[in-house]
Amino acid sequence: MGKIYQIAVVNGDGIGEEIVPAGLKVAEKVAAKYNFNIETSSFPWGAGYYLKEGEFMPENGLEQLRGFDAILFGAVGLPEVDDTLPAKDYTFRVRTSFEQYVNYRPVKLFPGIQSPLRDKTEQDIDFVIIRENNEGEFVQNGKIMYPDTPNGMAIETSIFTRHGVERVAHFAFKLAQKRRKRLTNVTKSNTLIHSLLFWDTVIQEVSTQYPDVEYNKMYVDNASASFVLKPEVFDVILTTNMIGDILSDLGGAIMGSLGLGGSGNINPEKDYPSMFEPIHGSAPDIAGKNIANPIGQIWSVALMLDHLGESEAARDIENAIGKVTAKGPLTKDLKGSATTTEITDAVVKAL
Ligand code: NAI
Ligand code: MG
Repeated sequence: MGKIYQIAVVNGDGIGEEIVPAGLKVAEKVAAKYNFNIETSSFPWGAGYYLKEGEFMPENGLEQLRGFDAILFGAVGLPEVDDTLPAKDYTFRVRTSFEQYVNYRPVKLFPGIQSPLRDKTEQDIDFVIIRENNEGEFVQNGKIMYPDTPNGMAIETSIFTRHGVERVAHFAFKLAQKRRKRLTNVTKSNTLIHSLLFWDTVIQEVSTQYPDVEYNKMYVDNASASFVLKPEVFDVILTTNMIGDILSDLGGAIMGSLGLGGSGNINPEKDYPSMFEPIHGSAPDIAGKNIANPIGQIWSVALMLDHLGESEAARDIENAIGKVTAKGPLTKDLKGSATTTEITDAVVKAL
């Protein structure tokens, strides 16, 4: 009898209801193979819960999650619910309360997948976006006044703290040391001359502690073009909350589909549970049809197991995903016709 991991499961809304169970099926398969156990508790939270209960999660929701080893999450948001609420009342609340200050978002081309970048191969598209996940542009600090009048005004202020920038920078440099030893700070300090100049300065200082890592900075406009024209220049990208949010969808696109991207919201100190979710949203346009691509969610399970210390199982899942993408079947977003269930079963079989 191996180790037991307690996992809180939050399907959320839309395709979350389909892809999170898919991820768990894969988790159970590797657990049996590597002799550990996954015990799950499900929490029916999100926009659907809000429609019934008037809140995205109960008031003591964070306390309920606190004792778990990790949280496996789909996505929240429904077209009939105010779309300013999902991040504010669920996602950002969990990320900040549990100091999940690292948003780990790998980008790589899986075998057999044709990137929309027609000349690029698996060797060219293989990097990790480290998105600062607790502060920056997304602290939701601001106000709207008199919106319907000629005096209407809105203000929203970013927050960057030395502590906040240093801790995510150390994580990113350490990651670069384990990879190809190149770190690119994606910034916009030529125009955001206060907040991002400070961001750059702190990262530059941290970089001196990692002389074996080649450090450079790139402005986000150039970085967006480089994602498309020369993704091979990237190894570890360190960037801000909003820039990382945007660039990771672009990362998903060059991998071939948003549905392929996995991610972790990580508290490296393990003082709190970390939360693992695909990079995309609840995709209400395709929900309930069993056609969503489950690979981003399955990859998130691999990242979760890696965080929990089951690195071999994690690597095995990534290889199994590669076996499936190499031979097919594929879902509709990748020009195939397979269902969510068929892809999941194919990954389980590959394991
Ligand atoms: P989205 O990521 O849900 O969908 C964008 C497009 O990608 C859609 O056409 C969708 O069908 C497609 N897509 C996404 N995941 C896919 C998958 N696994 N397989 C195949 N196709 C997939 O973004 P959108 O439409 O902007 O947002 C929908 C809702 O999700 C909103 O309420 C939004 O607030 C929420 N959202 C929640 C997030 C979270 O909970 N972390 C993150 C992003 C959005
Ligand atoms: Mg996003």
